[in-house]
Amino acid sequence: MKHDIIEKNIGLMIVLILVAISFGGLAQIVPLFFSKSVTEPIDGLKPYTALQLEGRDIYIREGCHVCHTQMVRPLRAETERYGHYSVGGEGVYERPFLWGSKRTGPDLARVGGRYSDDWHMAHLYNPRDVVPESNMPAFPWLFTNVVSGEDTAAKMRTLRTLGVPYSDEDIAGADSVFAKGDVREIDAIVAYLQNLGVLIQQKR
Ligand code: HEC
Repeated sequence: MKHDIIEKNIGLMIVLILVAISFGGLAQIVPLFFSKSVTEPIDGLKPYTALQLEGRDIYIREGCHVCHTQMVRPLRAETERYGHYSVGGEGVYERPFLWGSKRTGPDLARVGGRYSDDWHMAHLYNPRDVVPESNMPAFPWLFTNVVSGEDTAAKMRTLRTLGVPYSDEDIAGADSVFAKGDVREIDAIVAYLQNLGVLIQQKR
């Protein structure tokens, strides 16, 4: 029996198992590279503005993505709570993506427009002021730190090399947004939050 040869030779078995599994992986993954639904932006998707882009970096720096996912799964319980499930075309300019997998707090993929700017500010200053039972940390320094913007244009140029369609004007204009030194980190992060998932909304 030829199969005996494989069963008695663990090295050969490991190699053949890897070959078998990689076929499965390839069959699932490779078609996605060519599928428009995950490679093409949805209608109306715009790259982040300079302000939103800085807000996103503050979001990453503060570890918001460690407690909050940005991925509404196509399950009834999720779409009832958070809105339309996430689609691939929404995330084509996301570098790095912030889908996450751990929900200490709620999913934020569609939080844009759900609360006022003032609500977000009060919440980030001290979550307990608006949600008494909250165990989210407070981020009061966002109100005193100013965004320097010194790297914003460079970030946009780098994103452009990765396929994010920033125009020369977008990049040239980035500096002027922060030039006066009056843009606080809270302004940037709220601008970022208010834009999350707004292109696809459904009644909640
Ligand atoms: C240690 C975990 C943790 C971290 C870190 C964290 N959060 Fe939260 N967040 C929570 C929890 C828990 C809630 C639910 C209670 C509440 O609303 O405060 C929440 C709620 C929220 C909500 C309201 C969502 C909704 O749909 O009601 C927003 C917006 C939010 N967080 C933004 C942020 C931002 C921005 C950061 C980073 C600056 C952040 N969170 C960091 C745990 C966290």
